[in-house]
Amino acid sequence: MLEKLDQIEKQALTALEALEDEESLLQWRAEYLGKKSVVMDAFNVMRELSKEERPLVGKRANQVRHALESALEERRAQAKQTALAQALETEQIDVTLPGRPQLVGRLHPVTQTMRRIYEIFGQMGFQVYRSREVETDDYNFTYLNMPAHHPARDMWDTFYTDHEDVVLRTHTSPGQVHAMREYCPEPIRVILPGMCFRYEQVTARSEMQFTQVEGLAVGKDISFGDLKGTLSDFARRLFKSDVGIRFRASHFPFTEPSAEMDMECFICSGEGCPVCKHTGWLEILGSGVVHPNVLRYGGYDPAEFTGFAFGLGPERITMLLYQIGDIRNFWRNDLRFLEQF
Ligand code: DAH
Repeated sequence: MLEKLDQIEKQALTALEALEDEESLLQWRAEYLGKKSVVMDAFNVMRELSKEERPLVGKRANQVRHALESALEERRAQAKQTALAQALETEQIDVTLPGRPQLVGRLHPVTQTMRRIYEIFGQMGFQVYRSREVETDDYNFTYLNMPAHHPARDMWDTFYTDHEDVVLRTHTSPGQVHAMREYCPEPIRVILPGMCFRYEQVTARSEMQFTQVEGLAVGKDISFGDLKGTLSDFARRLFKSDVGIRFRASHFPFTEPSAEMDMECFICSGEGCPVCKHTGWLEILGSGVVHPNVLRYGGYDPAEFTGFAFGLGPERITMLLYQIGDIRNFWRNDLRFLEQF
């Protein structure tokens, strides 16, 4: 038995030298120190040995077991060291390499313009009023003084839905009636920003989907003069200069009288160029004095209340502010474009 233990010890230690990974080390332990190994078996067979032999074998078996256990620990430590040394060698970090830049997100240019618009109107006492993007035909047209079959509806190419009378709003103007019905009979001073949709051919100047900011003031003694003053001041604050503006008579079914506001062309300063189609002026919004029928639909008595309204396109304004030539850029998601703002 003693000889057998010597032999096994030698064999085990030799075998251990060739092993590195944890899996084969575990296998080795099972083989030489496991329940069925020769070393462990020595403790079992001891009972059958003579009195003299027993302590000798017991002592030796214990020695071998400890020797193997500590050899295993040593081997493990060594293997760890080797792996570490190898990793240090192969996974060297070059600390002199330039770092990876962190991409910093930013607001979409149109969102930036919208926020600037909120800020300016906020300073003038207007609150932001949100209303829905999906509207009934009544809100989109009828309550804005365009009864069914009225030819003025043709001015807005509309997305109709499968639901009877439900449309994607073609402008933010329906929000005027929502706001009036909520505030009546209080005076109103709100802007209504949001997405609008039109069933239109997409070109450099028009999109199927775009934002608008609507404005509405209702109260007693509100006149066309208030409209002019408010919008002129708005243009001055937005474009940060004494840019020339003009009001041009126009027609909208929901305002009477109606006007469009133009600003002096920023490219040619009024001389005339291709951008302004040689007029020297660029249109930036539609506006007017709220039509009595619209006031009535909102719950107000037009004999007592008057108001003004306007609607402007933040994409258009952003194009003017940054001299962007194609409205489709806003939805292209091209970082080369977006990162410039
Ligand atoms: N809703 C009009 C459009 O989309 C713009 C507009 C014109 C809004 C005159 C108004 C307004 O509130 O008074 O073309």
